[in-house]
Amino acid sequence: MQIKKLFLQNFRNYETETFEFTDGLNVLFGKNAQGKTNCAEAVFYLCTGTSLRIRHDKQLIKVGAETATLTADAKNRYGNVSVSASITETKREIRINGSKIAKNADLMGHINSVFFSPGELRLIQDGPDERRRFMNVSISQTSPTYYTALLRYNKILDQRNALLKNPDISLVLDTLPVWDEQLCKYASVIVKKRTEFLQKLAPYAEELHAYLSDNAETLRLAPDKRYEGTEEEIAELLQKRLANHYEKDLRLGFTTVGPHRDDISVAIGGMDAKAYASQGQQRTVALSLKLAEVQIFKEISGEYPVLILDDVMSELDLRRRKKLLEKIQGVQTLLTCTHAERVLYGADCNKIRIENGRIKE
Ligand SMILES: Nc1ncnc2c1ncn2[C@@H]1O[C@H](COP(=O)(O)OP(=O)(O)OP(=O)(O)O)[C@@H](O)[C@H]1O
Ligand SMILES: [Mg+2]
Repeated sequence: MQIKKLFLQNFRNYETETFEFTDGLNVLFGKNAQGKTNCAEAVFYLCTGTSLRIRHDKQLIKVGAETATLTADAKNRYGNVSVSASITETKREIRINGSKIAKNADLMGHINSVFFSPGELRLIQDGPDERRRFMNVSISQTSPTYYTALLRYNKILDQRNALLKNPDISLVLDTLPVWDEQLCKYASVIVKKRTEFLQKLAPYAEELHAYLSDNAETLRLAPDKRYEGTEEEIAELLQKRLANHYEKDLRLGFTTVGPHRDDISVAIGGMDAKAYASQGQQRTVALSLKLAEVQIFKEISGEYPVLILDDVMSELDLRRRKKLLEKIQGVQTLLTCTHAERVLYGADCNKIRIENGRIKE
């Protein structure tokens, strides 16, 4: 998978600009606050229809402008594909090869990307939300079925939670089983896909972590809850679990079991990474997870995703930087940094200097 061209108009601090990328390492460099992350964000947005740092799409529109337009010309295993987005204050439209898509799920899989920035330390340091987000974003890109199941699950979950707050207890108890059947139908899709995802991810991440840490540490990844069997069996199991928690759910006013409460346990040398690992160790774990994600995309779809490394080099020591550069051979990478020379050690790359929302020749 490769993005050949990226066109931006009134996107963040860009007025109009066209980027041309090579299939290897592309380095976006320049001083702080010039538009490097903005460019990386545009690529991620065209892959997933979302950005990790916005609440509203309108934040992406250049201040003072009405419409932001972004287009990526890319190549995937099926051929050339053009993905574009047009964002106004009130709506956005995404087109694939010129045809408007009806729902965000239709965007998934055209261009896949893995995004890594220092903020991804949250993956280790924060609560389960962040690790679920990681799985959701990653799995959705290769499985529209997962993405759709997730949207429906969340919707039914909201309705179930609203019902739990209803003071008419007998009505609630009568209605819950009906909601639960629907909820478990989608929950089982989510759980099954996550289980498969983690089974694939763990060995890659563990191996990458050993490589990046010179075999000094062992990483172990595992789901915090085990589910076995077919989707139907998982649905049945979850429905029983929900029924066992009626009393608690009613007391608390929300649903206390289900995939919206699941987590990944991350341990280094047998100790919980969040509680015991140093910042540097946590950073290496986060990087291992992200590089493992790159491998999984390759395993599932047959081709590497586009890897976006936003501002990560400055946080790694020299050995790890070099090891990282070795591991991304063959993967189209967009890397942002302030000083290209200091991080690249003469690696073959396409350097793009960015100044005040423009490419500087
Ligand atoms: N909607 C917007 N309209 C206009 N300018 C914006 C908008 N959103 C962000 N900016 C500006 O874009 C500038 C560049 O942001 P960006 O995050 O890309 O910087 P950067 O080059 O990655 O810098 P750093 O090295 O500090 O990470 C910021 O100064 C910000 O104020
Ligand atoms: Mg930045």
